[in-house]
Amino acid sequence: MSRKLKVVAVSGSLQRPSRTLVLVDQLLAALADEVAIDARVISLGEIGPQFAGVLYRNQLPAAVEESIAAIESADLLIVASPVYRGSYTGLFKHLFDFVHHEALTDKPVLLAATGGSDRHALVIDHQLRPLFSFFQARTLPIGVYAVEKDFEGYEIANPALRERIALAVARAVPQLRDASPAAAPVIQKSAPVALAA
Ligand SMILES: Cc1cc2nc3c(=O)[nH]c(=O)nc-3n(C[C@H](O)[C@H](O)[C@H](O)COP(=O)(O)O)c2cc1C
Repeated sequence: MSRKLKVVAVSGSLQRPSRTLVLVDQLLAALADEVAIDARVISLGEIGPQFAGVLYRNQLPAAVEESIAAIESADLLIVASPVYRGSYTGLFKHLFDFVHHEALTDKPVLLAATGGSDRHALVIDHQLRPLFSFFQARTLPIGVYAVEKDFEGYEIANPALRERIALAVARAVPQLRDASPAAAPVIQKSAPVALAA
């Protein structure tokens, strides 16, 4: 039996339209060209108001609890945030504070961020990567950082960013071989990368 790779993408942006969401969508599209995925996007702009004032997981509304359960059971996470004050957004951290500390162990996580300038590109390695190292997740080697000038409006305009997305996905795919636990290998689409052992 085979099944699609369950991919959950979390965007820490609070607004729409959102460059971070555009980046997430492009990462998902590039991934979908390589492997069969079942994708879900969790946008903090949408669910943030439902949990911003909640202190304990057992007080979360059902919709947010269900989003966290999806994060915990994903085969692959794509986590992306705009840079706010040199880091991911506060609500992004608040959401992951509800995630069980052992739920992401060994889970592949692709890191991405958008910022106003190049100066905060290290948010990927100095902020996001340590957070997911805490969870003992397998952060993927190539993260993707984009700045406002990589976009025209809310479309990617810089070919270098497209290349970076392609590289991140190309480096991720071989590591997804073991991503789906238990029995289920990943369905391969017509694209050539072999995931299932
Ligand atoms: C409250 C706030 C703080 C920000 N702080 C930074 C920052 O420290 N460094 C940076 O490069 N950009 C910063 N920005 C710019 C955003 O990171 C950037 O515009 C991002 O692409 C917005 O993503 P979005 O369209 O997905 O919301 C900040 C923006 C806001 C609203």
